[in-house]
Amino acid sequence: MRTALTERLGIEHPIVQAPIGGLSNPRRVAAVSNAGGLGMIALTWHDIDAARAAVRSIRGLTDKPFGVNLILAWPQEDRLKALLDEGVRIVSFFWGDPVELLPLVRAAGAISMLTVGSAAEARRARDNRVDIIVAQGVEAGGHVWGEVSTMALVPAVVDAVGATPVIAAGGIADGRGLAAVLALGAAGAWMGTRFVASEEAGAHPEYLSRLVAAHEIDTLHSSLFDGGWPDAPHRTLRNETTEAWVAAGRPGPGERPGEGEVLARRGDDEIKRYDSSSARADLDGRIGELSLWAGQGVGLVHEVLPAAEIVRRTVDEAERAVAALGDAMAMGPG
Ligand SMILES: Cc1cc2nc3c(=O)[nH]c(=O)nc-3n(C[C@H](O)[C@H](O)[C@H](O)COP(=O)(O)O)c2cc1C
Repeated sequence: MRTALTERLGIEHPIVQAPIGGLSNPRRVAAVSNAGGLGMIALTWHDIDAARAAVRSIRGLTDKPFGVNLILAWPQEDRLKALLDEGVRIVSFFWGDPVELLPLVRAAGAISMLTVGSAAEARRARDNRVDIIVAQGVEAGGHVWGEVSTMALVPAVVDAVGATPVIAAGGIADGRGLAAVLALGAAGAWMGTRFVASEEAGAHPEYLSRLVAAHEIDTLHSSLFDGGWPDAPHRTLRNETTEAWVAAGRPGPGERPGEGEVLARRGDDEIKRYDSSSARADLDGRIGELSLWAGQGVGLVHEVLPAAEIVRRTVDEAERAVAALGDAMAMGPG
């Protein structure tokens, strides 16, 4: 499948494995890139040596394009400089305006991306010469920047930015979703929740089994898991923690049920209720009660698969969906 995105990035399929915070790892990034998609690694919280090491480790596993992601709720200039120096050529930004960092990206000859939640924000990004716009709908998993659904947002952003390629994010978990967003004018799909449930993901087995069992109605949009990242709306699976909070009348920080309770540990690190740490495989404890990031597309995730298989199936399904539409159009009404 060729689109403006595959041409711009030099990849085979218009599928991006979204950066997924603490669950990102070089193995999955390389698996997706080797399968012809674009793997992305989230490096927001890595110290500079670890960020450089992650990039080298991806390079050891693939010679295909891949990208890095930085969240602008934290200072990123030093990390960005180190990554560009390391040879990174695709950089995505989230949660803010990257205008002061864009000259660094351009000077390195790298491609910039920004995740937006409105057409006005997309237009500003295009005017600031962001190369690729990611339009994230409110059904997305993890932290959610905007309030508009993917279906309404993507065409509005496409209309706003003209020739700048747009990638659709939020609720896309199979090839039907990819075909749908291509029909909306996007040049590719940015899939997070689907890739959390991949064999390389590093997510805890309890998290994975809840993802696979969940339906589309089983997520909650809130700012509940604020430990480490306050006032930042996000979407998670409903679980014991969210249900107790809802039952208590959604009280504010300091008054929530079980506030401060230690739920899990990684070595000497304690993960408390309402922390924003991801439920990684290296945690021990009451994993099901942690922040279990997931989008509404979780209802389409029925099994944990190798990341490369997710790419292959998504492409096959999208091609079938497009062909079926072509057939339906050729047959006409009745
Ligand atoms: C576990 C998890 C962690 C995430 N971490 C990041 C991140 O570090 N940086 C970022 O730009 N987006 C992050 N996101 C948002 C994704 O990039 C993407 O916008 C979202 O997953 C798309 O919606 P979907 O989950 O319905 O596919 C995260 C999403 C999930 C599910």
